[in-house]
Order: sequence, then structure tokens, then C-alpha cells
Amino acid sequence: MAEVKVGIIGLGNMGTAHATALKGGKVKGARLAAVCDPRTDRLDWIREEFGSQVQCFESVDEFFEKADIDGVTIATPHYDHPDLAIRAFEKDLHVLCEKPAGVYTKNVRLMNEAGLKSGKVFSMMFNQRTNPLYKKMRELIHSGELGEIKRTNWIITDWYRPQSYYDSGGWRATWAGEGGGVMLNQSPHQLDLWQWITGMMPTRVRAFCGFGKYHDIEVEDDVTAYVEYENGATGLFVTSTGEAPGTNRFEVVGDRGKLVVENGQLTFWRLRQSERAFNQEYKGGFGQPECWKIDIPVRGQSEHHVGILKNWTNAILHDEELLAPGPEGIKSLAISNAVYLSSWLDDWVELPIDEDLFYEKLQEKINQSTYKKVTEQDITMDVSGTH
Ligand SMILES: NC(=O)c1ccc[n+]([C@@H]2O[C@H](COP(=O)([O-])OP(=O)(O)OC[C@H]3O[C@@H](n4cnc5c(N)ncnc54)[C@H](O)[C@@H]3O)[C@@H](O)[C@H]2O)c1
Repeated sequence: MAEVKVGIIGLGNMGTAHATALKGGKVKGARLAAVCDPRTDRLDWIREEFGSQVQCFESVDEFFEKADIDGVTIATPHYDHPDLAIRAFEKDLHVLCEKPAGVYTKNVRLMNEAGLKSGKVFSMMFNQRTNPLYKKMRELIHSGELGEIKRTNWIITDWYRPQSYYDSGGWRATWAGEGGGVMLNQSPHQLDLWQWITGMMPTRVRAFCGFGKYHDIEVEDDVTAYVEYENGATGLFVTSTGEAPGTNRFEVVGDRGKLVVENGQLTFWRLRQSERAFNQEYKGGFGQPECWKIDIPVRGQSEHHVGILKNWTNAILHDEELLAPGPEGIKSLAISNAVYLSSWLDDWVELPIDEDLFYEKLQEKINQSTYKKVTEQDITMDVSGTH
């Protein structure tokens, strides 16, 4: 195969950005060949920009039947991601799926199984994995430089959204349309990085969500989640769309010091020896291990969405290793599902969660939701931002 013929399903904010990237020739080896969206204004835009080279479909059935493509990028609201990906795999297509992988792990698991069975290249659009700061932090942890992890701590509250963002209507911030709030829309990137960088998934979670705490919305806009890991480490994840100015600070403490990413800088507070060893050996009463503050030099640029599009294309054409393999999307979703469940039950939740119970509780929320799937409601809201 000399080039990948790409189809895009969903031409809102993100699908439009992907189409634009493909048009600009930023992704060598990939060509936009077909799109699908029920919104005719979006299809008109494609015709204006690309002429007749790109096939346009209003219906997904027709798209899967007639589009002449090798792979598909799924950029619809989250609920549809797993079903569309499964249909794509059944059609022998490669898949690049927007984050989050879906709304509930039960059907994301089916998507992963279908992906595996198909043998096609399956990636998630976790564009923040292209950030060299986070890659470096991961490298320092995985190489053992930080030692055994004791605590993880992410305050990610710089997702501020005013009420007018939510008032624009549509599927967002409703249980029936979106399936969650800040945990599902704004913070999936950090939830993914949290587990990807540390290489650890929580074993149990106790979380507190504020549903419509700062906004007139059904879903959560404020979250504090305490987690525990298998090795005895603990963690805290704090996120909100109702705080200004917000904070974005990720700190991981290990036996050999602590790593902090904040304000675009990675800092390693490096101990000269293991804290556990110091604790055993030191006899002076007060005192602590010698520590050096190191500003870690980080090279390279975040290529974000284009970086993931390139990586997916190169994986299809040249067997390049995926930066964000599709089956990993379930991990961050499993954490957010556990956070909701813990908050709804007002109790501890162990991972892996009881997926049937989660689905049942979600269904209760959906039944009470004010959102009814009317396509006109979904239209014309520009909320593009740095997701
Ligand atoms: N990776 C990122 O940084 C990032 C940023 C923004 C959005 N996203 C994700 O992209 C997805 C879409 O978000 P958005 O902001 O573009 O939403 P949007 O509402 O702007 O666009 C969604 C589009 O999908 C279309 N659509 C809905 N159902 C469809 C279907 N079954 N078949 C075809 N088209 C359908 C709608 O008509 C709409 O045009 C979400 O899952 C979101 O989380 C990711």
C-alpha cells in the first residue's frame, strides 16, 4: 500500500481539525477519501475544500457500504465510538478512535476484542502522549530512576468553562448525550497519562463528584478521587471546570525523590540515596536524604493530533510502533467509571469494577436525563480548545 485512504466519521470540531490536517499534507502517506456526518453543512464544507476527491455520506450505513477507504477516524460523540469501531473492524478497516474510548467499559471491551480479532491497526487519539515532557517523565519512571512509587498527585483544574459553554446545548454535559462531565470530556487525557506514565492502575478508588456544583448541568464539574495501588502507593486526582485560575500540576513521589510537571517544565528532585535506605541507616534524629533539584532538559515538540495521525499512518504503512494502542483506551475509562461508581454509591470501588452495576447505574442517569437525541440539538457549537 502506497498511501492510506482515510475516512472520517463526525465532522464537528475534531473531525474538521483532522480533515484540515489531512488537507494540509501534514500527514505523509495519508489522504482524506471519504467523510460521514448527518449535518449537510459540514459535507458542503468538505465539497468546498476538497472538491469531488472526497466521498460524502450522510448515513453511516452508506458510508460503511460504499466508502473506498483503508482506515477510519471516529470523531463522533463518545457513546458511538465502540459501535462504530466494531463496524469498521468488521469491514476490515484500520481504526483511529477519538478519546474517550467510549462511555462504559462493558462495550469498549467488545471494541477491543473486535480490534484484536481483525488484526487491523487500532489507535486511540491520545494526543498528549506526544508531549516530550510526559514522555520523558515516563522514561524516568520506567527506567527505575525514581524508584518505587509512593504517591501520585494530579491537580488538573485548568479546564475552566463558563455557563455559556454549557448553555449552547447539544449532547455535551448530559448523561444521555455525553455520559459524563469533566471526567469524560476534558480530563481523559490526564487520566490516560496518569496510568501511562506511572505504569500503574489503581486497585481501589474512593471518589467525590460534585454534579452541577458550579454550573447548571446534570453531570460532574468537580471531582476529587483518592486511589490506592497494588504496591501500597496512594494517589489523588483532582479536576474541575469551575475554578479560575486553575492549576495543572502532576507530581509523582518515589523512593529516589519526586518528579513534577508544572508550567511546561519537568523537575526532578533527586535523592542521592534511597529514602527507605536512609530511613534505616540514619541515626541523627532530624535529617533527611541529600536532594538535588534538576531541571530536566526536554527536547522536541508536541505534535499533538497530527503526531498521532502520522503514527497511525506509519503503523499501517511501515509497521511503526503505536504510541497510543487502541486497547489502552479502556484503562482511563475504567478509572473514570470507577470514580462515578464510587461517588454514586458513596463507597469504595475496587478495580476492575462491576461493569454490569456501572451500566445499570448509568442507565438510571440516562433515564432521568433532560437530553433527548435530536440531531438538530447537536449542531453548530464551536467549542474547540486544547483538549
Ligand atoms: N483529542 C482531542 O483533543 C479532542 C478534542 C475535542 C474533541 N474530542 C473528541 O472528539 C469527539 C467529537 O467531539 P467534537 O467536539 O468534535 O464534537 P462535535 O459535536 O463538534 O462534533 C460531532 C460531530 O459528529 C456528528 N455525528 C454525531 N453522530 C454521528 C454519527 N453516528 N455518524 C456520523 N456523524 C455523527 C455530529 O453531527 C457532529 O458534526 C468526542 O468524543 C470528543 O471527546 C477529542
